[in-house]
Amino acid sequence: MSQKNSNAIPFNRPTIVGKELTYIAEAIQNGHAAGDGIFTQKSQALLEQVLGVPKVLLTTSCTDALEMTALLLNIQQGDEVIVPSFTFVSSINAYVMRGAKPVFADVRSDTLNLDETQLERLITPRTKAIVLVHYAGVGCEMDAICQIAAKHRIPIVEDNAHGLFAKYKGRYLGTFGAFATQSFHETKNFTCGEGGALLINDLRYVERAEIIREKGTNRSRFFRGQIDKYTWVDIGSSYLPADLLAAFLYAQLEVRETIQAKRRKIWEYYDAQLNAWAEANQVRLPTVPNHCEQPYHMFYMLLPSLEDRQALIAHLKVCGIQSVFHYLPLHLSDMGMQFGGKAGDCPVTEDVSDRLLRLPFYNELSQAEQERIVAAVISCKFD
Ligand SMILES: Cc1ncc(COP(=O)(O)O)c(C=O)c1O
Repeated sequence: MSQKNSNAIPFNRPTIVGKELTYIAEAIQNGHAAGDGIFTQKSQALLEQVLGVPKVLLTTSCTDALEMTALLLNIQQGDEVIVPSFTFVSSINAYVMRGAKPVFADVRSDTLNLDETQLERLITPRTKAIVLVHYAGVGCEMDAICQIAAKHRIPIVEDNAHGLFAKYKGRYLGTFGAFATQSFHETKNFTCGEGGALLINDLRYVERAEIIREKGTNRSRFFRGQIDKYTWVDIGSSYLPADLLAAFLYAQLEVRETIQAKRRKIWEYYDAQLNAWAEANQVRLPTVPNHCEQPYHMFYMLLPSLEDRQALIAHLKVCGIQSVFHYLPLHLSDMGMQFGGKAGDCPVTEDVSDRLLRLPFYNELSQAEQERIVAAVISCKFD
């Protein structure tokens, strides 16, 4: 998109909503800009309290939080990890890096979440984890998935990159699996540019998680005064973000209700204004089951065909509006095919991936901009 066109509406725009800059200055004044300073502690405590999660550790990204789960689960060569094909590469790369073989599951055609009815047949004695994604922050069918996972004693990792503060049957997403991972990348509802968090629901993993996050050392225990020197005790890496980033993030988490209210208004406006057009043009708008409270993370549409989707992206571009598609099927990627993926393995994923389009969505998207976007969508002529 041209930077010169001041009328252009980007897909995403980072925004300042609260005391982000004040808190960054405070982090410097505190004399602790590196990881695990006051704002890291505050962000972690806020998430633990609101979500009711026993332990939250901020990380440098959702990708890194996923990598930590692969280390914590001792993923080894030859292990299998089940993952939806319709997701971001990090959901599975974290485990493949440790030697695991991805086992791709298809998604439901309504919520685009892992199809729980196909899960059990993908489980083998080598399955070491089920990674699921709450697409657009709309909860997967956790009753069925948790039951299957418990029956086979397989840990669940919720890749909750989209779904912070969303709920399934009244319970927060991120509280079902042994682990959940969050993203604070700039496209997410709450951001610090690049960032993430590991949510740990199974307390057995907490001590080792702190070590892995601190380069394989017991430095966290040292800082708490529990030991008088710290040393190398395990494998690990540097997964903790600077307190400068946590300061930015904390300011956003603090005003989470304001952010969610803004996003809800944007989502509901799209939904109401595009409903009749969608019905007349065989376009499907997002499905949110009654038992799911969504976080208003994104607004997507499923066009009738790939050609229609591409035509709408091109039409919106001419109108100065940036719309984007989303995940390409992982089982058909170069890496996915090396693991045996082939066309037809995940038919719903293959179909929706071609037809999905996401409209601009950010906290400060104005009503006037939304009116322009809706008018532009409706004016698109399909062949
Ligand atoms: C489902 C999912 N998981 C993980 C990630 C990676 O997040 P991050 O950029 O914080 O590493 C993304 C990125 O958008 C995502 O969509």
